[in-house]
Amino acid sequence: MRKDLYSAGEKKKGTRSPQSTVTMYIQNKLAAGIVLLNIALFSYVYYYAQEQKGYAPVIAQTSIQPSKMKNTDDLHNVTANTRKVGIKIYNIDVQQRASVGPSDFWRPELNLSSLPPSLYKRGKLVFDSLPKTYLPGYKSACWKLKGALKCWPYFYLLGMPKCGTTDLWSKITMHPDVRNTVKEPHWWTRARLSTGNLAGYASRSNKMVQQFKLHPSMKSRLIIGDGSASTFWDNHSWDRWDGKRYEGPKYVTADVINAAQPDAKLIVILRNPVDRLYSAYLYFNRKNKVSVDRFHKAIVEVIDRFNTCLQTMSFRGCTYSMERIQNKFPSPTRPYVGLYAVYVRDWFRVYPRDQLKIMTLEDWHVNCTGLLPEVFDFLNLEKKSGKTIAQFCEKKLQNGNKFRLHAIGDMLPKTRKLLEDFYEGPNKELSLLLGDDKYLWRT
Ligand SMILES: *[C@@H]1O[C@H](CO)[C@@H](O)[C@H](O)[C@H]1NC(C)=O
Ligand SMILES: *[C@@H]1O[C@H](CO)[C@@H](O)[C@H](O)[C@H]1NC(C)=O
Ligand SMILES: *[C@@H]1O[C@H](CO)[C@@H](O)[C@H](O)[C@H]1NC(C)=O
Ligand SMILES: *[C@@H]1O[C@H](CO)[C@@H](O)[C@H](O)[C@H]1NC(C)=O
Repeated sequence: MRKDLYSAGEKKKGTRSPQSTVTMYIQNKLAAGIVLLNIALFSYVYYYAQEQKGYAPVIAQTSIQPSKMKNTDDLHNVTANTRKVGIKIYNIDVQQRASVGPSDFWRPELNLSSLPPSLYKRGKLVFDSLPKTYLPGYKSACWKLKGALKCWPYFYLLGMPKCGTTDLWSKITMHPDVRNTVKEPHWWTRARLSTGNLAGYASRSNKMVQQFKLHPSMKSRLIIGDGSASTFWDNHSWDRWDGKRYEGPKYVTADVINAAQPDAKLIVILRNPVDRLYSAYLYFNRKNKVSVDRFHKAIVEVIDRFNTCLQTMSFRGCTYSMERIQNKFPSPTRPYVGLYAVYVRDWFRVYPRDQLKIMTLEDWHVNCTGLLPEVFDFLNLEKKSGKTIAQFCEKKLQNGNKFRLHAIGDMLPKTRKLLEDFYEGPNKELSLLLGDDKYLWRT
């Protein structure tokens, strides 16, 4: 098996009772205190650097000039020049966690007063409603919100659209300890910013909480998730907080979720971005006329617009700005959603590598029975027999999109070539970040 670049090594596993969690918590309190001090110091240095330089030190090191940023190679250079810094930050974080124990035992005290003010502002509504510590004994992060017990999702299926999230979600929720909920509330990236109703979002856990009342032993077992496929790539309304910045947003959704739920488990399923884009084009334009020529024209336009953006903003900045740019110049296609490396880097900036499980639709299609047990394991769910897994995997593929593809056929070869060039740099970057060349999608 190929090894991940930032792998934190094997994690200890085991089931536990609420009792043992409490004991463990007390036993660890002293040790945890020391570790928390270190983390506080680290966070201070880290955030200080962010505040000073506008973005994580990783980006701040680059000296690439706007005028040179004409193609995706530049993204690769940005990382190549600065990767060392990234790894250093990473290792500190992973080691500190490793010394505390398995990550699901680790309930750090949320010290929200140490958040940088501009990050605090982005999630004030959430942060003001959180306790200092989540309640012990639950597998999820649970707390009393205005007197009523609520739990955060234990896991997020963060993205991406048209990469098989619906099918993956349906199979994860077949596990008896995962309570099904509406898959895509789009709360963190959308609803939160308009209606802001935290109580409504947190109520997704109500059915699970009912179960806790009937069967207290379920507290340490049941979980819910959030499968909003927009969470990974943000809302693009960042300029509301940050104005126009060359580097792009100072903080993204990853920072906000991380501040509130440092223990969240994150799953991302990716796919060859060229195929993803075409699939999305066919899927999201069901009411419009689609054709291979229209697709080609749209791609040329939107890549041109992206390149125009690169004259005044970094690759990252443009990636996060295209949604807004497209509000002015509507387009039936969103190639920036496939610039996975930009988003992966932002999530890695705040979450330890071992809290993100990244997989591909290509693997999932041929190997559900191999990957589903890994996902269950990742979520610390009870193992299922090979037979049960096979039954789960046999269920019909959800949300497949074959019909329209058959109707108009594949994109034109020249369009494919254009897109392959567009994604080449970011794919290279992604394969380096994930330590696996399957993300080059060269086959
Ligand atoms: C990126 O790196 C390549 C190879 O090292 C180099 O030829 C190219 O000029 C660099 N581009 C920029 C914008 O620095
Ligand atoms: C929380 O962080 C603030 C600012 O860094 C610090 O002054 C305070 O002592 C911290 N509180 C705890 C309980 O660690
Ligand atoms: C977030 O994105 C959605 C979809 O693009 C949009 O409808 C919504 O207005 C955005 N929210 C903000 C605050 O920009
Ligand atoms: C399926 O996934 C499992 C677990 O990752 C792996 O060990 C196995 O080699 C994969 N099989 C194929 C055919 O890719």
